[in-house]
Amino acid sequence: MTLDVFRFGADYYPEQWEESRWPIDADLMVAAGFNVVRLAEFAWVKMEPTPGAFDFSWLDRAIDVLSQRGIQVVLGTPTASPPAWVMVQHPDAYRVSESGERATYGNRRNYCPNNPNYHDRTREIVGAMTAHYANHPAVIGWQIDNEFGQGDRCCCPVCITAFQRWVEAKYGTLEAVNAAWGTMFWSHTYTDWSQIPAPLKSAASPNPGLALDYYRFSSDSYVAYQHLQAEIIRQNCPEIAITHNFMGFGFGQIDYFRLAEDVDFVSWDNYPRMQWIFHTPHDPARVALSHDSMRGLKRQNFWVMEQQAGPGGWEIISQPPKPGEIRLWAYQAIAHGADGIVFFRWRTARHGTEQYWHGILDHHAQPGRRYEEVKRMGAELKQIGPRIFGTQVAAKTAILHDYHTRFAFQIQGNHPNFEYTSHTLDVYEALYQRNQPVDIIAATESLEDYSLVIAPSLHIMTETIADHLRRYVEQGGTLIITPRTGVKDEVNAVVNAPLPGLLASLCGVEVVEYEAMTASEQRGIRLCEEGASEQTLVGRLWCDVLEPTSAEIVAVYADGYYAGKAAVTRNYHGKGQVITVGTFADTAFYQALIPLLVDVKGSYDDIPAGVEAAVRSHQQEHFLFLMNHTGDTQRVSLKSPCVPLMGDQTSTQEVELAPYDVFVALIQQ
Ligand code: GLA
Ligand code: ZN
Repeated sequence: MTLDVFRFGADYYPEQWEESRWPIDADLMVAAGFNVVRLAEFAWVKMEPTPGAFDFSWLDRAIDVLSQRGIQVVLGTPTASPPAWVMVQHPDAYRVSESGERATYGNRRNYCPNNPNYHDRTREIVGAMTAHYANHPAVIGWQIDNEFGQGDRCCCPVCITAFQRWVEAKYGTLEAVNAAWGTMFWSHTYTDWSQIPAPLKSAASPNPGLALDYYRFSSDSYVAYQHLQAEIIRQNCPEIAITHNFMGFGFGQIDYFRLAEDVDFVSWDNYPRMQWIFHTPHDPARVALSHDSMRGLKRQNFWVMEQQAGPGGWEIISQPPKPGEIRLWAYQAIAHGADGIVFFRWRTARHGTEQYWHGILDHHAQPGRRYEEVKRMGAELKQIGPRIFGTQVAAKTAILHDYHTRFAFQIQGNHPNFEYTSHTLDVYEALYQRNQPVDIIAATESLEDYSLVIAPSLHIMTETIADHLRRYVEQGGTLIITPRTGVKDEVNAVVNAPLPGLLASLCGVEVVEYEAMTASEQRGIRLCEEGASEQTLVGRLWCDVLEPTSAEIVAVYADGYYAGKAAVTRNYHGKGQVITVGTFADTAFYQALIPLLVDVKGSYDDIPAGVEAAVRSHQQEHFLFLMNHTGDTQRVSLKSPCVPLMGDQTSTQEVELAPYDVFVALIQQ
């Protein structure tokens, strides 16, 4: 019942403004086509000003103002930012960082997820809130807490004891732990559970087995803390869908696949232009990867719970979205499977840390160009929302994403310039440039829908996953693996076999040697495949020297002391094939390689660069989204005619897109 229509709205903080303003805000929201707002996720102190004294009257009035105008609400549980009184009562609930430093009051996300006192306070506020809003007709969803996993790996005494219990539950005996972690190394053998430490920064370069288990434990702690809240919500509001606002492909401290199991739908916070703050230029492919990874968590459509609506900033201010970009980014989300768009935030705060995090309205609240752009989109969605809602992205390609691997690389990066997520993006981008839809899924997911599966650096390899991949290939799939795959086992020990370890026989290849290169070095790669261009490709950072046992050679190294040896191989197995790629490379490398080995031809692979195409489908209806991410007018010639869903609705095959414009149409077949 919650996810019944397309949702469009903003994150709204009525508690930060005078009440007389609320109806004016709500009227402007209605005019902008809103049907949802998210409320209250930072309003704990207003709902519980003193211990146990709850006051929801103000929130009732705010919800009334909105719902009288047809706007429904998602309520956030406020536990990301406790009132000062909570922390004064429970100083032991402050998180201790990996540097061993205890947090103090003043920011948010400063609590320990395992602290029993914080759990009690959580049960009280979430219990009171959900009891108060049980059966409230305007409440359509609950968001639990806010963005778990930002610098959040707590190492306080409570967590260390909880970790010791976690290890005991996993391994049973100290002998088993010592064997798994190989603690004879440096005499780190533990003779009592209480000796087991957290991998604090002061003990730099901890045992990789211990560290990986601590990262898993920490992830499990947030999954459990979320569950504590989910149970209360489900008890009091069984009909209402639960979500959490995830952080795309960006955050890497929590196993999002596990966190997503306990929510009814995934939502995430999308800030494409944060260049000065996060030092990454806006890259539509990176954002697309985040969308696809969020869709992959439950393999279902998602919401954007915070969609950038202005320049961001705490101490400094990021570049603004250019005219058209707010709408463009929101449509990009929809094109990748969003069924709800909620902008962050309605009005820019005058006070507090986020004074410079601009919302739809500026501080003064006069509607300006950002409001007009959102309003335009609201009007469009009234028209097209019902047609788009619930339609699916259908991908034949999957990229595997694994948090055990991600944690392991956080512990040991292998190469100073290698980064698991950037490598995944390099591979992803080769498909993105061709407008190939891609699912980003867990390594344990069913693979039967896919003709191509790519496993970038799937470092931690279990027997289960190895068998799963073998079966996929046997049944006709194409699997591509890249360096550092299969190097480690479940306990983060290096495998006792030639690499790629458990996949060596499936790949028909053994890594006989590897070379880590300096950041500026590179190796030429020469393709041997028929039909390959003469062009020499380039490998960077890392080269595995591959010795085929049954595979054929696809490419060789053109230089280095292993010149002439295999750099890329192909092994036929069952009805399928496995491609082993021995080097890291830029997107151009994968763009040249992948089409040689597997058919990835699509309808939109030759549209102008900077224009993105994506399709959402339901049965025989296919909706095309064209998105112009450039500041120039672009012309696209389509292979089949389309009927635009907005504007002039006459069938066309020639589309002209103004800078940052969007085209949505029904494809005629
Ligand atoms: C996050 C949070 C919001 C807000 C914005 C802007 O994504 O969820 O509460 O802090 O960023 O900083
Ligand atoms: Zn802790």
